[in-house]
Amino acid sequence: MIQITTPQELQQYRNNLPHAETVGFVPTMGALHEGHISLIKRSVSENDKTIVSIFVNPTQFLPGEDLDAYPRKLEADLKICELAGVDSLFTPSTDAVYSWEEPTVKAPKIKGYILEGYHRPGHFDGVLQIVLKLLNLTRPTRAYFGKKDAQQLYLIQNMVHTLYLGTEIVPCEIVREKDGLALSSRNVYLGDEERQKALLLSRSLKHATRRIIEGERDTERIKQEMVEILSPTRVEYVEIVDRDFNLLHEVQIENTIILVAAYVGTTRLIDNMWV
Ligand code: PAF
Repeated sequence: MIQITTPQELQQYRNNLPHAETVGFVPTMGALHEGHISLIKRSVSENDKTIVSIFVNPTQFLPGEDLDAYPRKLEADLKICELAGVDSLFTPSTDAVYSWEEPTVKAPKIKGYILEGYHRPGHFDGVLQIVLKLLNLTRPTRAYFGKKDAQQLYLIQNMVHTLYLGTEIVPCEIVREKDGLALSSRNVYLGDEERQKALLLSRSLKHATRRIIEGERDTERIKQEMVEILSPTRVEYVEIVDRDFNLLHEVQIENTIILVAAYVGTTRLIDNMWV
């Protein structure tokens, strides 16, 4: 595995890859866990070369969010990538990636500013800005994103489609602990008691899917029941949307995502289920 730290080197590396080879790309912010590893392994198995990036992107954090506290574990991440069969690892500094002044990407006005985008205004502008840069540098055949960040995944698919970027975006399943907790780099912030409360997110989603299997289709009723289950947490939103992030009054089987965002202590967690 080679480690690359500047965009120029990465461009050169990419340009030197044989034309016929397929390239898989997995963008991350590091502190890699089994969720990331599943993306990386999938890329390694589906492509001739796999590029992983580790970059804690400042432009997607709002003032007062956890940019400084965000876990950074570069040494462990390097080993994980090496063992998983990654060919090149891009670990740039902020100064290497961003200029003091540059054009900026704006997330779509509606879908980029509801749900996560409403509670974290500007977050998706920063996500799309860095993902666009990374896709331009790596020009991958396929890029791998987790379904856990469902709205991010939707907006990236939308950007790739509308800006004709030509990469296939591969959605990857959420990886959970045995007890249902969705893996997240932010889970390290949780104390023992908080971790128990954090389980309420996946429990509320399981309850919702059970109710749908029983025949319930009214999204308001399902959301109300979820909010009750989540009451020991500070719920930011519970919402039910279709796969294009339109709000739903009635569940549409095979076209529905149930989403939740809640604070457990000071840690903000998100989770979702695709029905
Ligand atoms: O999902 C993430 O880890 C980040 O939002 C991403 C896609 C790597 C962009 O910084």
